[in-house]
Amino acid sequence: MSDSNTTSVMTENWVQIGTVNDIPLRGARHVHMGDKTIAIFRNADNKIFALEDKCPHGGCPISNGIVHDNSVTCPIHNWVISLETGEALGADEGQTLAFPVQMNGDKILLSLSLK
Ligand code: FES
Repeated sequence: MSDSNTTSVMTENWVQIGTVNDIPLRGARHVHMGDKTIAIFRNADNKIFALEDKCPHGGCPISNGIVHDNSVTCPIHNWVISLETGEALGADEGQTLAFPVQMNGDKILLSLSLK
């Protein structure tokens, strides 16, 4: 992506929150944006995802969960949550907020517009 594209991206409320190397492989970090805490996940394929850091079951921080494929398993009661949509998978029902992420080289850009 060129610098001119980055400028146009930034005007659409994209915020640079760090680089891919700030997020552990198959792990997560969280950032505070306004009144929300956003969990930033990196899966084994180096794909980056952003979800509100709040389990749809009990509200605990899912950034403490186990990342596998395109999902995270909550450490409290083992609900499996899609990193792409924030939806609980399997028999469980619920959803946490999912936010768009894009990469500019190794830089992670986050938008607080909902997916
Ligand atoms: S709080 Fe996450 S599965 Fe119960």
